[in-house]
Amino acid sequence: RPRVLSGIQPTADSFHFGNYLGALRQWVDLQRDHQPFFFIADLHAITVEQDPKVLRERTLRAAAQLLAMGIDPERSAIFVQSQIPAHAQLSWVLQCLTGFGEARRMTQFKDKSAKGGEGAASVGLFTYPILQAADILLYRPHYVPVGEDQRQHLELTRDLAQRFNHRYKKTFRLPEPYILKSTAKITDLQDPTAKMSKSASSPGGIIELLDDPKVSAKKIRSAVTDSGSDIRFDVEEKPGISNLLTIYSSLTARSIADLEEEYAGKGYGDLKKDLADVVVDFVTPFRDRTLELLEDQQQLSDVIEQGRQTASEVAQATLADVWQRVGFVAAN
Ligand code: TYM
Repeated sequence: RPRVLSGIQPTADSFHFGNYLGALRQWVDLQRDHQPFFFIADLHAITVEQDPKVLRERTLRAAAQLLAMGIDPERSAIFVQSQIPAHAQLSWVLQCLTGFGEARRMTQFKDKSAKGGEGAASVGLFTYPILQAADILLYRPHYVPVGEDQRQHLELTRDLAQRFNHRYKKTFRLPEPYILKSTAKITDLQDPTAKMSKSASSPGGIIELLDDPKVSAKKIRSAVTDSGSDIRFDVEEKPGISNLLTIYSSLTARSIADLEEEYAGKGYGDLKKDLADVVVDFVTPFRDRTLELLEDQQQLSDVIEQGRQTASEVAQATLADVWQRVGFVAAN
């Protein structure tokens, strides 16, 4: 079975609809006929300052949410990045293969360091995509299910894999991004040309899966819509309505065309009211399930430990190949 791998940062109390529709839902689907490795990227989280206690809590909350949405620990290795030292170790080797200018071209660094200025950003934020390349290459996956914002990091990963393979010996598989076009970029409800984002969106612009469902319903009903009044999918002219149609369509498995037909002649308010109901029906059981899973911390640690064992075996084997090929003397 082809392998899949992906990760998510534990940098908020809850995942949001961008995470879910852009990536996590594909994780759940791909489990069935792939060999999956899914992890919580706590090493990536500390590229910006984190409160240690909160980071630990959020990491476990992330694990609970993955289970609640249907990641099955019997099929998938669910693990915590910092528990596998090979990620940081391989990252060092890959950093030594990356050009400074090449790293500098990564747009996420530019975006994320824009606020405080480059001087205030950590070196870890700068080398972040190289750690991500290490995360991926260690497991030799065929596919990496992510949202559109990760595409550039996947390209860097492929370049580094190719460079290593060429310089030393064929070691890494070149992974393919697995990006679903329809949900690759879920946008901010208040600013529908920007992506929905934990760090950049205003509270009204982001729907968190663990929010009070009433609050989420209200956010949908107050979403910014576009000029005009007809309900049709048109990202250029109607980014707000198009985003709502995308969310609606993916939560109900109804086609956009079907929804356009149903709402022909109706107003934006009707669409928002119905979508608010759809969202509430989705998040309510998800939230209950997550809160229930969080009651049993022992079970969560067991899942993560099981994932660590599976992942560690694969990662160690790849790292051993790399160490040998690079020319490091083996320890006795
Ligand atoms: P992160 O934690 O920011 O987001 C997790 C996943 O959610 C996707 N996503 C979106 N998709 C569509 N629309 C949006 N508005 C939206 N917002 C977020 C992201 O594309 C991602 O797939 N660097 C990664 C974590 C990571 C990783 C990896 C991923 C670390 N190592 C190795 C894959 C493979 C990140 O920060 O994702």
